[in-house]
Formats: sequence, C-alpha cells, structure tokens
Amino acid sequence: MLRTAFTELVGCSIPIQQAGMGALANHDLAAAVANAGALGTVSVTGAPPDLIAKILDQCRALTRGVIGANFIVDPALVPDRASLPEAVDAAAARVKVVDFFHGWPEASLVDVAHKRGAVVSWQIGSSDEAVAAQEAGCDLIVAQGIEAGGHIRGKIGLLALLDEVLEAVTIPVIAAGGIGTGRAMAAALAAGAAAVRVGTRFIAAPESEAHPAYVSALIQAGAQDTVFTEAFSVGWPDAPGRVLRSSLQAAEAHEGDIVGERTGKYTGTKSQVRRFEIGVPTVRTTGAIEAMPHWAGESVGGVRRVQSAAEIVHELSSEAEDLLKRWG
Ligand SMILES: Cc1cc2nc3c(=O)[nH]c(=O)nc-3n(C[C@H](O)[C@H](O)[C@H](O)COP(=O)(O)O)c2cc1C
Repeated sequence: MLRTAFTELVGCSIPIQQAGMGALANHDLAAAVANAGALGTVSVTGAPPDLIAKILDQCRALTRGVIGANFIVDPALVPDRASLPEAVDAAAARVKVVDFFHGWPEASLVDVAHKRGAVVSWQIGSSDEAVAAQEAGCDLIVAQGIEAGGHIRGKIGLLALLDEVLEAVTIPVIAAGGIGTGRAMAAALAAGAAAVRVGTRFIAAPESEAHPAYVSALIQAGAQDTVFTEAFSVGWPDAPGRVLRSSLQAAEAHEGDIVGERTGKYTGTKSQVRRFEIGVPTVRTTGAIEAMPHWAGESVGGVRRVQSAAEIVHELSSEAEDLLKRWG
C-alpha cells in the first residue's frame, strides 16, 4: 500500500482523490471511489444547505469510506454568497474533506469547515495562491496544471507548478491535471506529491452517469484531441477550461441557441441547455450531445473503456505502486 502524508491525514488507504466534477461527481461515484479505498468527492457547488445535507447523507449511506465535498466558490456559480458558510457547515458536518476551487483562499470558509473537524483542501493554479491557501489555514493544497480537464485555474504545466508549489508551502500537495495512468500517478508521487487528483478517468465509470456519447468520444480521443478554451462560457464567463476539440467544433457548427434539455438528478427540474453552456452532458441530458462541452484533460488517453470506479482506482494505484518499487 502506498502510504503518504495524504493517506495519513485523510484516513484512506490509497492516495487518489476523485475530483469534484459538477454533475458527474454525484454521490454514487463518490461512494464507489470511497469503497475502493480512495477519497470520493461529491460536487455540491451552488446547492442550498438542506439539499447538500440530503445528498451527502445519501452518499454516507452507501459507504464507510472517506468522502469529501467540493465547492466552486466563484461568484458566477454561487449567486447566493451569503448562504455559503451555512452550506460549507452542512457539508463539513458530513464529510472528512471539504474541498474548494476557483476563488482566492478565504480563511473564514476554512474556519467553518475546521470547526466541524473537517480537513480542508483548496485547488490552486499558482504558487502565490498556494501560499494564500496555506496562510488561510488549509491542510492540503491541490496543484492543478494546465493539462487538467474541466475548468482550469492555472496557466502552467503540472510539473513546473509542482516544483514551485512544493518549494513554497509545507503542507501536503496533491497533483492534478493530466494524470490518467499508473505511470503518471507514479511520476507525480515521485516528484513529491502526496496524492493525485483524478477527474477525466472517472467520467468513464458508469457511476458518473456521464452521457454514453460523451464517454465514447473520450474512449476514442488522445491528449492531442483536447483544447484549452474559453468558448464554453454561458453560465460562467471568463473561465477557461479543457474540452475535446470535437465538442467545440460541434458547438460552433450548431445552428440555434438551444442544444438540448437536461433533468437535474437531485431536483428533477428540467431546463434547456443553451449553446456554449458549461453544463456537462449526463444520462439525463437529451439533444445534440456532441455540441455540449466534453470536458477532458490530457489524461484522456488513459480512458480506454468503460470501467467501474473501483477498477479505475485499483488499476491506477497498483500500476503506480509497481513502478515506484521498480524505480527504487
Ligand atoms: C468534467 C469535469 C468537471 C469538473 N468540475 C470540477 C468541479 O466542479 N470542481 C472542481 O474543483 N474541479 C472540477 N474539475 C477539475 C478537477 O478538479 C481536476 O482539476 C481535473 O479533473 C484534473 O485533471 P484530469 O481531468 O486530467 O484528471 C472538473 C474536471 C472535469 C473533467
């Protein structure tokens, strides 16, 4: 077993954090990852405290493993800013790790989670932001390289960022972005990361409920098929991210402002999907799926088939462990 400062702090047996991933990081995926021995994460961005409590209780009912809750704190996604501390409190009362992204680290939010005994992590994109996260009281930092799938905070590659961040802070650092194989995981751990954060690989787990057309596009793609773009901006302007180029081209070619319809997993609410909207297509989305953002990191080459979340965790960790032993 790969024991690191992360596994010690968080209490799971495998140094993998499943990324917050909007609608895909639902309670079923997080529970499956946690049951496999890694840290499962439920995305609860923008949800009111009572819904957060309900979703996380559902997750807890499926696992005795280690789970976390992910909040994007950018004001574009959190219109009701005043209720954020209450939302964080509701999550922190139910999970081991409260994880933040896309907003300058805020000590007051960290304190809310700490009061409930949670471990706090903040995903950052620069060494200045890493220092700010440590100063705000965070226990863990997630360094996100520009190779990552989904929205991206930083501007440089993961290894260059890790180098800077590991020099700048003393708390454990999790490496994120482009890690889709055991080899990449081993390399990040060898470079000094205490764990890896993996997003794109878990999209192809049935538990994520990603739309099957999105999953097949990922299976067929390689790193060269991703593109860093701000084009998918409806709902969140000025926030770049990485998608499959094919989905960007399909959105550009789509005629009309509406590309489909979605139903919320937890709310049951139906809504139209607008062209260039940020929402990820799930099994509850209909319409021109190919023209919706196929968020994907350069790790997408590691997505070769549909695999359960447990298989993905075990494949990555056993390959990484073997390689690290071989490298001595
Ligand atoms: C579909 C998708 C949605 C994402 N949504 C979120 C999110 O809601 N919150 C968050 O902190 N990060 C989000 N991310 C970024 C991840 O936290 C992480 O940095 C990224 O997945 C790592 O790169 P990888 O995809 O190559 O593994 C998302 C990533 C993907 C692929």
